[in-house]
Amino acid sequence: MDMVNIKINGMSYEVAAGSTILEAAREAGIDIPTLCFLKDINQIGACRMCMVEVKGARSLVAACVYPVNEGMEVFTNTPKVQKSRKMTLEMLLSVHDKKCLSCKRSGTCELQKLCNDMGISDENRFEGAVPAGKKDYSTLHLERDNAKCILCRRCVAACQQQHVAVIGANNRGFDTEIGCAFEQPLSYVSCVSCGQCINACPTGALTEKDCTQDVIDAINDPDKIVIVQTAPAVRAA
Ligand code: FES
Repeated sequence: MDMVNIKINGMSYEVAAGSTILEAAREAGIDIPTLCFLKDINQIGACRMCMVEVKGARSLVAACVYPVNEGMEVFTNTPKVQKSRKMTLEMLLSVHDKKCLSCKRSGTCELQKLCNDMGISDENRFEGAVPAGKKDYSTLHLERDNAKCILCRRCVAACQQQHVAVIGANNRGFDTEIGCAFEQPLSYVSCVSCGQCINACPTGALTEKDCTQDVIDAINDPDKIVIVQTAPAVRAA
């Protein structure tokens, strides 16, 4: 295997050519926070949590997609890097339904953990939008609450990995939401209830449904399928 020599935080490492900075850092036991990254399944550089400094580069780079090369010098925890990660979290929180106390994922939510680790409270300086997003309670096995979705697309990748591929991004920009084509509920498409999207979700956007008899009755009666759509997002003037 071809190897290259790099430095991470001033320490020298020999790493496999073609690996990413994130892979090299993890191999060296150096932590770089991630959100959208799911090894071998979702490596799209979308969330920008993993930003690091590379000597000579004009801007921060996303470690999960940026390849190492000979002589590269990487810095994973400089003030500039910390500032970028904190701002990313604040911006995610500014459009996130911050009801952590009643959220099923509280305690196992990756977004919550990163905010705790970096000292980000739920009162932040970006008030550009309030959470919107559809809730889909239409299937027997899961609930989708897009007000808690961070658009990492890990669920989309997991669904594709299962060769089901019934979810993806709808709309564009501020209105982007993950869901089924034409915004149909999950119970109307060929979801096979594998639950891999729940495993892939880093937040409380996808959770297992508490399966009571009421839920089973509702699923068996299409007229009772419940799709709740929240009010449109409110944007700053
Ligand atoms: Fe690298 Fe999301 S983990 S951009």
